[in-house]
Amino acid sequence: MKTSILSMIAAASLIVAGTSLAAGMPAAGKAKCGVCHAIDSKVVGPSYKNISAKYKGDKDAAGKIAASITKGGSFGWKLGSMPPKGMGASDTEIKAMSEYIAGLAK
Ligand code: HEC
Repeated sequence: MKTSILSMIAAASLIVAGTSLAAGMPAAGKAKCGVCHAIDSKVVGPSYKNISAKYKGDKDAAGKIAASITKGGSFGWKLGSMPPKGMGASDTEIKAMSEYIAGLAK
């Protein structure tokens, strides 16, 4: 049961990832984060747009976002807990995703 719900979420987010998400997002975002995140809708985790809004105006937004992704856990969204580094993202991929997310709210 749990598995089928998870695979439904994965399938749904892949459909979204294949359409509006693809433009401009680093490839790792789809492969290593897309199961739980989408640009403008909540999946398992918050949307990248909402995350970007949280850090809007913060000069170190990308750095703070990268620190959250690396560490994982809960950040006050009350959606549960994120695995550290998502689905095994490298530091380079985390940096690219952080800059991408930080840039959305500008
Ligand atoms: C298994 C699901 C899952 C995966 C995979 C995942 N996340 Fe998350 N993510 C979450 C959840 C759940 C939260 C919200 C936690 C909370 O309730 O505070 C979250 C929160 C976040 C936040 C918010 C941090 C903050 O400071 O508010 C960022 C940024 C983020 N994820 C980026 C990523 C990126 C980038 C990847 C891929 C490298 C990724 N996530 C992979 C589930 C996931």
